[in-house]
Amino acid sequence: MLVFTLLISIFGAAHLATSEKLSYVAEPSDLYVAPNPANITTLLDFIDSQDNLSNLSVILRQPAGFIKAFDTAPTWSFTFFAPSNEAFEHTGAYYSSFASTPKGKWWLGNLINHHYVPNTKLTTSNFNGSLSRVQTASYLYINTLKDDSGDVKINSVATITGPDNAVTSGVVHIIDRILDPSSQIFESDLPKITQTFIAGSCSSPNLAYC
Ligand SMILES: *[C@@H]1O[C@H](CO)[C@@H](O)[C@H](O)[C@H]1NC(C)=O
Ligand SMILES: *[C@@H]1O[C@H](CO)[C@@H](O)[C@H](O)[C@H]1NC(C)=O
Ligand SMILES: *[C@@H]1O[C@H](CO)[C@@H](O)[C@H](O)[C@H]1NC(C)=O
Ligand SMILES: *[C@@H]1O[C@H](CO)[C@@H](O)[C@H](O)[C@H]1NC(C)=O
Repeated sequence: MLVFTLLISIFGAAHLATSEKLSYVAEPSDLYVAPNPANITTLLDFIDSQDNLSNLSVILRQPAGFIKAFDTAPTWSFTFFAPSNEAFEHTGAYYSSFASTPKGKWWLGNLINHHYVPNTKLTTSNFNGSLSRVQTASYLYINTLKDDSGDVKINSVATITGPDNAVTSGVVHIIDRILDPSSQIFESDLPKITQTFIAGSCSSPNLAYC
């Protein structure tokens, strides 16, 4: 009898694991919405106002939470690297086949976090001619390099084409390629650009790898 029960349990679990499709529940209607005073320009206001960020504007609405989080007056400062429509033209088959799947939504959320630097406003004057690194909200690093003509390259592929756009509490740089979290190469020797500690990213900001 015990064996029989176990078999039922095992087959029951296997049945669930193989046949239940990954999906998302509808957003509850009573979610807290942070205040959005009329006298501010939120990150979302900026993204939605730029013709060449129309892909990003649509993509932000796919993973949960970003529309609300980007449409408030944060009490912290931030830097956001906004991939332009040109950036999304260079994403390829992996992006187009994966991003639209349920698991792809989670991946897109992580991708967006990788473009956001909380607690620090980095303008182009903060980047210089040494290959340096900055930690993002994904906890991973991106690298930055300002070339002789003053252009800033991120991860050696993306160029800041629209620098230093001011929004309330933050600065937005438009870039021409997306920053993929999985492309981070471990570069322990890169100097780290001075930035405010990202809570939860490390046990101690004094550790060399933080
Ligand atoms: C917006 O208005 C509020 C209330 O009048 C004020 O406290 C706040 O500083 C203003 N914010 C900005 C960014 O001007
Ligand atoms: C970007 O927008 C264009 C025009 O609406 C659309 O054809 C294209 O599929 C979009 N790209 C992505 C990656 O969403
Ligand atoms: C994006 O489009 C805006 C106008 O909507 C323009 O002012 C800006 O230069 C463009 N930026 C880039 C990086 O192409
Ligand atoms: C560039 O910035 C990094 C990080 O702040 C610093 O370590 C490095 O010395 C700077 N390089 C130059 C050429 O100023």
